[in-house]
Amino acid sequence: MDATDGRVIKPMPPTGMSFDAIKDHLLPLQMPDPHAHFARAFRGPKDVQEVGKYAFEKFMSDNGFFSLYLPYMQTIEQEVIAMGVSLLNPEKNSTGNFTSGGTESNFSAMHAARNWARIHKPRVTKPNVVAPYTIHPSFQKGARYLDMEVITTDLDENGRGIAANISAAINDDTIMVAASAPSWHYANIDPIPEIASVAMGAGLWMHVDGCIGSYINPFLEKLGEKLTPWDFRVPGVMSISGDLHKFGYCQKPASTIFWRDAVLQDHHYVSIEDPFLGQYKLAGFSGSRSAGPIFAAWAVFNYLGEEGFLRLTRRVLELKEVFTKGVAAIEGLKVWDVDVMPMHFHSEKAPTSAVYQGLFEKGWLMLGLVAPEAITICVDPALTDEDAALFLADLREVTESILAGGEAKKGDIRYS
Ligand SMILES: Cc1ncc(COP(=O)(O)O)c(C=O)c1O
Repeated sequence: MDATDGRVIKPMPPTGMSFDAIKDHLLPLQMPDPHAHFARAFRGPKDVQEVGKYAFEKFMSDNGFFSLYLPYMQTIEQEVIAMGVSLLNPEKNSTGNFTSGGTESNFSAMHAARNWARIHKPRVTKPNVVAPYTIHPSFQKGARYLDMEVITTDLDENGRGIAANISAAINDDTIMVAASAPSWHYANIDPIPEIASVAMGAGLWMHVDGCIGSYINPFLEKLGEKLTPWDFRVPGVMSISGDLHKFGYCQKPASTIFWRDAVLQDHHYVSIEDPFLGQYKLAGFSGSRSAGPIFAAWAVFNYLGEEGFLRLTRRVLELKEVFTKGVAAIEGLKVWDVDVMPMHFHSEKAPTSAVYQGLFEKGWLMLGLVAPEAITICVDPALTDEDAALFLADLREVTESILAGGEAKKGDIRYS
């Protein structure tokens, strides 16, 4: 292997490697547990992983391209959608689609809203979305693909959107309002009822980014947590995203986009009449795709059931408490108050980026925020109390060493 300007140059090997040699090469690249659970790779408990893996492997070479037509696959995908939407206080005709991740789910909502607006707001030439500042960058990305614009608005002191700001930012080209339940940045749920009411009053499509929340909020509520109403029980909410590969504990890539009514879903589909192939209409943006994630999601949902999701949600809450207390007990570190997940903390004395780098050097590849700087823990219920203690001990050692005047190399805090 050679590298030129960061480009890897490697010719196709003239002969194949043995399976053993391939394993020897790849196995050391795997991050050890528990570090892997912190390392941008939310995984879920081992037994749940095993169930998902079984179904994933069995169907990974089947083509999800055909999920709208092949009966055995269609039923499984539709059952996943039906189980997912059942958590969101749906209407009789609420439905959804399986996607590859939160980015595609949010993109799908923007795309459907744009198609809907072409009928309902025909004078709009450059459509825009108005959303609190904490809306996920996947909206900016979707806007680039769809030639739309995202107008962001200021937050309140707790990092939540403000309905009056959304209202003030809406203009003649606005077609959609979006808010988060919760956002990644502050892990707080925006005031969805007030924001949806503004959207409805202005005749706009209202989308809730529930990529983090859709598979944990319902169970938090069942456990008695008082969350701001955020799902289809809120009048005006037309679509909600929900990531299976986050708190759905399913294998990546897997997410869902839900529509309040099947009529809205019609704006999602793109149907091409090809002169040679006939109708080309698929479930979403992808063409050929592995059916593995669809079957894995079905397996995980049926394995866990409501009881399993509640158990894992309880564990997330327990661990949240352990991390909150553990981090707060370290001098100079401040834990942010969040509605759901992820957790964030920053350092008030040493630079947060130095703590981040210190953790990195001990093998903890953390997610973080850049402005304001913070270190993120997206609590995976797979973690044991011992895993949490190991992390907290390293965090204490790193922080104390920096405060004692040790070497403090600043790390490049990153989200992606
Ligand atoms: C609130 C929110 N929306 C969307 C996304 C994008 O999800 P994905 O990375 O699965 O595309 C994320 C990812 O963390 C997120 O936190």
